[in-house]
Amino acid sequence: MTNTSFRPRRSCLYMPASNARALEKAKTLAADAIILDLEDAVAPDAKDSARDRAFEALEAGGYGSREMVVRLNAMDTPWFDTDIQRICASKADAVLVPKIRSAADILEISALMDKAGAAEDMQLWAMIEMPLAVLNITEIAETADSTRLTTFVMGFNDLAKEMRAQQDRALFMPAIAQTIMAGRAFGMNILDSVYNDFNDPEGLEQECRQGNAYGFDGKTLIHPGQIDIANREFAPDENAIAEAQAIIAAFKDPENAGKGVITVNGKMTELLHLQQAEQTMAMAEAIKALSE
Ligand code: COA
Ligand code: MG
Repeated sequence: MTNTSFRPRRSCLYMPASNARALEKAKTLAADAIILDLEDAVAPDAKDSARDRAFEALEAGGYGSREMVVRLNAMDTPWFDTDIQRICASKADAVLVPKIRSAADILEISALMDKAGAAEDMQLWAMIEMPLAVLNITEIAETADSTRLTTFVMGFNDLAKEMRAQQDRALFMPAIAQTIMAGRAFGMNILDSVYNDFNDPEGLEQECRQGNAYGFDGKTLIHPGQIDIANREFAPDENAIAEAQAIIAAFKDPENAGKGVITVNGKMTELLHLQQAEQTMAMAEAIKALSE
């Protein structure tokens, strides 16, 4: 399994692959990842032309260090076979598979990617948006050890539809906790679902703050106006960086040599906090490197 965990994924912007203007605009946007969508955001009659447009754009390049992801159509649709073949022959960094239900789905797609000659480091990202995916989450995450799977992407629009429920964050909390727990148990990255009301920056900010606190690596987005908020909320802030630096410095102090627990800024601080501090600094540095 490829370790991709220190790559910033604060902001992962979906765009319909049928939208040429959006594909062009993406080259100038500060999103960490771009998800070219062939699925829900593309009407059936436009599937073939959207696919052509996505791979022309990927071939032409110009997206810099942005991680380029293609969301294909689900396994049980007539478009899947062509989608996966084209993706595997492309320069995409990852394929995002919707409507995953089981570990068997992941094993099948990862094997298909090998057979189709996908680059060795092409990742598999899975949408968690079906009730069965939530119920099977541990077994699905376990396949990350032996397949290309690196990342879960939560999809609450579909999950609400499948559950016949209203969009209500409280309802999704058990799924969020289980998905993050299972994903982390197997070294995966986990991205939060989209915030549909793209004219509500305060609501988005609140949801990003909550998602960051719960352990998500970043948020999937639907509109360029959402990028700056996600980039800010999912980056370690000044306080977090100052605290991490203080912890690292304290453990380096010869007075604390060999100690497992010390006091930093009045708080009990153990070696596990040192590891957390090192992770915070690694992410802060990876984010800084993006703007250099
Ligand atoms: N990616 C890149 N550019 C985008 C964009 C996106 N997701 N959404 C909007 N833009 C661009 C528009 O092209 C427009 O560019 P311009 O000013 O250069 O013409 C600008 O941002 C402003 O767009 P706006 O007029 O505010 O939005 P809209 O009415 O054109 O589109 C949506 C609204 C929701 C249809 C559009 O944002 C969208 O398609 N989002 C992604 C949907 C998606 O991929 N869903 C699947 C996953 S849930
Ligand atoms: Mg969907």
